[in-house]
Formats: sequence, structure tokens, C-alpha cells
Amino acid sequence: MLSIGVLISGSGSNLQAIIDKVEQGVLDVEIKVVISNNPQAYGLTRAQQYGIPAVVVEHQKFSERKDFEQELINVLEQKGVQIVVLAGFMRVLTSFFVGHYPNKILNIHPALLPSFPGVAAQKQAVEYGAKLAGCTVHFVDEKMDHGPIIIQAALPVLPSDDAKTLSAKILHWEHRIYPQAISWLAQDRIEIVNRQVVIKDAPSSFVDQNSPVLISPGLEPSFV
Ligand code: GAR
Repeated sequence: MLSIGVLISGSGSNLQAIIDKVEQGVLDVEIKVVISNNPQAYGLTRAQQYGIPAVVVEHQKFSERKDFEQELINVLEQKGVQIVVLAGFMRVLTSFFVGHYPNKILNIHPALLPSFPGVAAQKQAVEYGAKLAGCTVHFVDEKMDHGPIIIQAALPVLPSDDAKTLSAKILHWEHRIYPQAISWLAQDRIEIVNRQVVIKDAPSSFVDQNSPVLISPGLEPSFV
């Protein structure tokens, strides 16, 4: 079974979505550890509730970024983690860390990359006047919010939306596409050709008429 480590900084609702799918028996991974750079992160409590080791590695305690990242690597290696899942982890990881895990780090970003990388992506989308927003699960490479894209969900930005309402709508779909992407990885169904991600037997696009969303590739029924 695939061993994953989840890195968080805050609420950990994506972590919860992953835990839920593991608990339901539809996501075949073992969460070996949850690491937060923020000791106040609620996601740590979520992990503890399920008996998952929860570790704080505070970035402020390290004068060099490399030392912080080395400590993350130490914990991940000690727990036998194969795949690193960034779930609202709000520290940029340098090539030192990324180089340790080539094509073995996943990230979720609350925008349709390559639009709106960086912080407060939902606010960026609203202020820019984008008509479509969404979320992206991608592999992490040396450049921020840049690696090969696994799955994206697109949804409309309504005239009544502000950053808060849009964030909530995007988060709803984050909770579906992230466990799905991890599941494909766990099933060894993902291949990267140049920067194109090929999913073996990819489902066709998912469209939800009730809350308009387009997800490509599609979602398998247990992840909807
Ligand atoms: C999510 O919206 C995630 O996409 C975003 O932070 C939130 C974390 O929520 N990540 C980024 O902006 C990374 N650049 P959560 O802690 O409830 O999962």
C-alpha cells in the first residue's frame, strides 16, 4: 500500500477529505504522518482524532530554509513516506526539498493553473474579473504552482461572488479531486510524458448540472 505524508498549515479540510476516503475504503493509502509548520493548525487535531502521527516542524525555528526542509525530510523518511501530499501547506519548497522527491510531491491549488499562482488565488480571480475559477492538482517541480497537471475542476464566478464565497465553492471540489488524484497514483495509473499527465483508463469529463462544474478528466463514482 502507498505510504503518504500530508503537509498542512491550517484547517486541514483537504486532509479530512483524504482521511474520509481512506476510512470509506475507497482510497487505498496509508497516511503515515501529518506535518504542520504551524503549531496552531486545526489539521493536527484532525490527524490525532484518527490516530495519525501529527508532527510540528516550525519554520521560524530554523534560520536557514534548507535546515527546515531537511527536518521535514527527516520526519518523512523516518515514517517511510513515499508520496508527499501538500494540502494547504503555505511554505514554498525549494529545489533542495523537491529534488529529494522527484514527481513524488502533489499539491492542490485553488485556481485554474497556470492562472493565478501564488497566495490568495481566489481573491486574485475575483479581482481580475475571471469568469471561470477552479482548482488544480499537480505534481510539484522547482517552480511554484507549475508542475504537470493531473486534474482540474472549473466552475463559474458569479457576479455575486467575493473571495470568500468563491473559496467555499472551490473547496467543495478540492475535496473531491484531491482524493481522486491520490487514488490514481496509488493505483499506479499515472504516467508523465513531457509535462502531460496520462491517466490509464481515465474517466470522461464530469459535469454537474446542479452546481455547474466541469472536471477533466472525470471523477470515478466513489469520489463524486
Ligand atoms: C485550500 O483552498 C488549498 O487549495 C489552499 O489552501 C487551502 C487549504 O485549506 N492552498 C494554497 O493556496 C496553496 N497555494 P485546508 O487547510 O482546509 O485544506
